[in-house]
Amino acid sequence: MKTLSIFTTLLAVSAAKKCVVRNPTDSAKTNDVKAPVTDDIPSDNETPVNVDENTPLDKEEDSGIENSDIENSEDKPKGKLPADFKWGAATAAYQVEGAWNTEGRGESVWDHFTHLYPMNVESSDRSNEDSTNGNVACDSYHKFDQDIAMMKIMKANHYRFSISWPRLFPEGQAKKVKGKWNVNKEGVEYYDMVIDTLLENNITPMATLYHWDFHTLSMKSMVVGRLPFTRRFAKYAEFCFEHFGDRVKNWITTNEPWVNCVSGYRLGPGKAPYRCTGEAPRKLANDTAGLDLLGGCSYEIGPSQYTKNHEALTANRPPQRLEDVWCSHNILIAHAKAVNVYRKKFQKKQKGLIGITIDGEAQIPWQDDKTTPEELENNKKYANLAAEFRIGWYSDPPMIGDYPESVKQRMSKDMPVFTDEEKALLKGSSSDFLGWNTYTAHWAEQVKNEDGTYVQPPTDEEANFENSKRDMWDDNCRGRGEGWTCIPPTLGSQAGSSWNTKFAPTIRVGLNWFSKRYEGLIKNGIVITENGCAQPNYKVARANDEVTKKYFESIGQPKYADTYKEEDIEREDNLEGTLMHDTYRIDWYDQYLKNLRLAYAVDNIDVRGYMAWSLLDNFEWENGYETRFGMTYIDFYNDKEMKRVPKDSLEHLGQWYLENVEQN
Ligand code: BGC
Repeated sequence: MKTLSIFTTLLAVSAAKKCVVRNPTDSAKTNDVKAPVTDDIPSDNETPVNVDENTPLDKEEDSGIENSDIENSEDKPKGKLPADFKWGAATAAYQVEGAWNTEGRGESVWDHFTHLYPMNVESSDRSNEDSTNGNVACDSYHKFDQDIAMMKIMKANHYRFSISWPRLFPEGQAKKVKGKWNVNKEGVEYYDMVIDTLLENNITPMATLYHWDFHTLSMKSMVVGRLPFTRRFAKYAEFCFEHFGDRVKNWITTNEPWVNCVSGYRLGPGKAPYRCTGEAPRKLANDTAGLDLLGGCSYEIGPSQYTKNHEALTANRPPQRLEDVWCSHNILIAHAKAVNVYRKKFQKKQKGLIGITIDGEAQIPWQDDKTTPEELENNKKYANLAAEFRIGWYSDPPMIGDYPESVKQRMSKDMPVFTDEEKALLKGSSSDFLGWNTYTAHWAEQVKNEDGTYVQPPTDEEANFENSKRDMWDDNCRGRGEGWTCIPPTLGSQAGSSWNTKFAPTIRVGLNWFSKRYEGLIKNGIVITENGCAQPNYKVARANDEVTKKYFESIGQPKYADTYKEEDIEREDNLEGTLMHDTYRIDWYDQYLKNLRLAYAVDNIDVRGYMAWSLLDNFEWENGYETRFGMTYIDFYNDKEMKRVPKDSLEHLGQWYLENVEQN
């Protein structure tokens, strides 16, 4: 069976998010997509996004969104965003704070990982010991006043930051004994200062409790037996609500469980806690980015817990091959428990909102001039199915209390089951608002065998993790290096991270998907809690462009096939160039925000906020300081003062806000 789709083979760059892997050998195969298919493009006054009102949650259905609909509505924004639109930028504790061992902070898994495996983090100056970790990062721990100054430039009215669990509870376990918490006083003072300074500057704090930097203590309990981790998390959350909740009214429990678990537990070797659940230890093939990634997984939580064939474990221990699945399961439960604490003890008095932030790419049904109407219908069905796996897996539980039926059915016994009590806790636990981090989009279609016949979905007997997506994509990452794909191929022009491509309609498609799926269930709308890019650079190949161009030509919308010119490429040695004058990033924001406005004004989607990623250049996980997502420049290697220098995009967003959001 040919496990890769035609579109996968068209791709030269196919990478799981944050996992830099490329296959240059595929770059030649880029010319299968042909001439325009324009027949079904509606006229300008038709409803642009054709959403069927009656999609049941548990059925495989198409996404109801026409490619042509998305494209054709471009010139229709009407009505500015409302004055109370949440507008700002996002960061995360480990990526910006630094001060990793000052004033009593404990060790997070990211400290542990980066200190043990510095070679797993990209650096162009290994003589600088801090270039491969967050020890210093942007030193926001000491320079927060300068960060505020940057927020002002973009006219932020909100700031999304995260709280470092080990900074508050160096021992990992939060405890309240006789009314007194075992909390690190200095850590509390730091976040008090952050929150108070924000409020003094009329910027509303939006705090994430967990952005991947959990305490080392929880590394094992995250996957091995759910109770310790989820209880611990709820207790830590309780402290945060109790102490900061008089001033913080926007709580996000956890950030992107998919990336956290799939990258951290399945894909290795670039993300803590550096497991390689799905594969044997390896060295990445075709590592043209110059990442010198060491092969191997730490197996730090102890190989002894595994049987020889790494399977069948004793009760309460997930098989090693499913650690990411269990990690996700436990994070979702932890989220629900924290929400329960907030709702029961604090929300009424404090009057804040609480929700989860998930990530996930909108799925775009494939279409070219060879696609028959039947095939297109099928691709739409697959777009919805793929979205249920990629997004619904994480968004259904906090909205409707359980995993999508398609996921449960295709995973069969490999899927952990929520107890009734957990289901009840989960249901509606993100009904205050839903946070969505959106970056790129994936093509969706049913995978074909070499003879052109469709790969069939698994039968009930075949249903398990490995087979669950075989007709959608092969995410088990087997055969990496040979045109492999872990997730479906991305669509759009190549930005500065291998996984990140510019395809702005994704934000609109996704907002419509959520809105239709959870109609009437989200009280305060969807908040885009992250969106942004790194400028194109020489570290990432651009082979996606040609394919994307042909795709857009084929649906009669060549303007979306934007690419970049040589002069857009970021060069560290040229401050006069796009490092500071970040034109590609500006265009990114313009295009995505335009689509957000379309979703709001034309499709009537209840979208309440937008947080750009990121306020500052910062520690970009396994890409270290080599990949810059910030709207503010920092010279990490040479400037001891870490001076913040605004890039053009920061000011541009300030202007965008004035022009596109109602001003009181
Ligand atoms: C994460 C951020 C990260 C950004 C860019 C998001 O997935 O939440 O921490 O820096 O993407 O990679």
